Amino acid sequence: MDADRRTLAREVARRRTFAIISHPDAGKTTLTEKLLLYGGALREAGAVRAQKAARHATSDWLALEKQRGISVSSSVLHFEHRGCRVNLLDTPGHRDFSEDTYRTLVAADAAVMLIDAAKGVEAQTRKLFEVCRLRRIPIFTFVNKMDREGRDSLALMSEIEDVLGIDAVPLNWPIGMGRDFRGVYDRLSRAALLFSGGRHGTLEVDETRIDGEPDSADVRAACGPFAQAVVDGLELLEGAGVRFDRQAVATGGQTPTFFGSALTNYGVLPFLDRFLELAPPPGPQRSNRGLIDPVEHPFSGFVFKIQANMDPDHRDRIAFLRVCSGRFERGAVTVHTRTGKPVRLARSTLVMAQEREEVEEAFPGDVVGLFDPGIFRIGDTLSDEPSLVYAGIPSFSPEHFARVEVAEVMKRKALSRGLEQLAQEGVVQIFGEPGAGSSAPILGAVGPLQFEVLQHRLESEYRVALQLTPLPWTIARWPRAGFDPDAFRFSESVQVVRDRDEHPVLLFRSAWNLQVTRDKYPELVLAETGDAVQPGGEAAGER
Ligand code: G4P
Repeated sequence: MDADRRTLAREVARRRTFAIISHPDAGKTTLTEKLLLYGGALREAGAVRAQKAARHATSDWLALEKQRGISVSSSVLHFEHRGCRVNLLDTPGHRDFSEDTYRTLVAADAAVMLIDAAKGVEAQTRKLFEVCRLRRIPIFTFVNKMDREGRDSLALMSEIEDVLGIDAVPLNWPIGMGRDFRGVYDRLSRAALLFSGGRHGTLEVDETRIDGEPDSADVRAACGPFAQAVVDGLELLEGAGVRFDRQAVATGGQTPTFFGSALTNYGVLPFLDRFLELAPPPGPQRSNRGLIDPVEHPFSGFVFKIQANMDPDHRDRIAFLRVCSGRFERGAVTVHTRTGKPVRLARSTLVMAQEREEVEEAFPGDVVGLFDPGIFRIGDTLSDEPSLVYAGIPSFSPEHFARVEVAEVMKRKALSRGLEQLAQEGVVQIFGEPGAGSSAPILGAVGPLQFEVLQHRLESEYRVALQLTPLPWTIARWPRAGFDPDAFRFSESVQVVRDRDEHPVLLFRSAWNLQVTRDKYPELVLAETGDAVQPGGEAAGER
């Protein structure tokens, strides 16, 4: 291996690219901040929280523009820890929740599922989990807020298994809970880790390590009044027979689980260390030419997100490129494989906190922001090998639907141009009704903010004022190829439409309607995502 390839192999091996999935308020901002503090990427606590507060302070358009600025810059955070280069991809929640949140997971090699110990598995976590499962990436679980009274830990493990259908395998076990939460027993290294000190905003936690089996005298003494509970809990886990299995973790069949408190820092560092040890480095990616190895192939990557600047004076956009193979070098020329045109990687930025730094080079697993003059679409491949196309980024089921009406007939052309462009950027999904013509399309979005962004951009960039009428659908499913709508007699709670690729899509009012339809037509195979054009791969999520 030549020196360049050796460097590349070393850089790939030390990268960890992941996203945190959670329900609002589980503590994602707090945990992110602690991870950045450990990685030396933040000097003082409070910076991430301040950004979050700014984001939610008001919702007028000026604020939205500012917020966009913030969310661009906080989209990818990176830090170094114990020799690893860690890339943390932001998955917006709350009002910002959108299809981008799902698409970001397509660029991650692993996910951390953050759960509030008192609340268990909540709705948004479940949705994001499903996307991770479709991609079969490893999922690590951090049970947060152990410094408060929460649910029984064993009951939480059962809930994860029942609700998500994945084996939760605790790699550590809590010693006490609430005000008495004093540490964890580390099952892999067979030691109790006791924490003391620490308060929000600092990393000053004292950790004392006591080696020994759970019922050894030393560990019992360390656990104090919780000794028996720890011994019993661990015995039950061992008796349950689910053993930690790296292979099952790698394919998403098992989730290694950790306990702690992001607020007090208890358990954060032991979690981070184990996570970096067990999470995979960037691996081969599926393409029309089979699996593309990150080291063996020349430079390549795919666009998973496009962020437009809302400011009319600065119409630039940023395309987020996940590097998949080879070395990214600023100024190099590569190929935009959908159009076959050469592209110079001239203005590229590594987005971090509120500063944008120019990137000179990047490696597989890294995310680079490219200034986009309007040529990129979600899912595009850039590659030194011109015929390479990465497996497309699927369309995820929208949950909000609306019909478009334009007041002025004269504006219809501008409307379809604008909608087409914005759909390519992934702002919303567009569906057409058979026989309805293209003048009144149906729009679909994962989060309602997507509609607001669409309206704003159509008005400011295409001078089209848009009327949106909400529709009652909440779920979309893509039937397998060969589907003939005339062969079915659907109820009024189901509508057949077509997506931009002319594939049929079924829209349902509710999960119940979906279930009734499935029961009535067991032969109907429905996919959770629309990704019929998946070179080199099977359609994901078929049931
Ligand atoms: P999010 O990004 O997932 O929405 O959650 P965020 O970190 O903002 O945390 C939501 C609330 O939960 C915050 O309280 C935060 O301090 C608290 N929190 C996060 N981690 C822990 C933990 O480990 N233990 C406890 N007890 N609380 C935790 P808040 O009252 O909304 O804000 P603040 O007044 O603390 O700023």
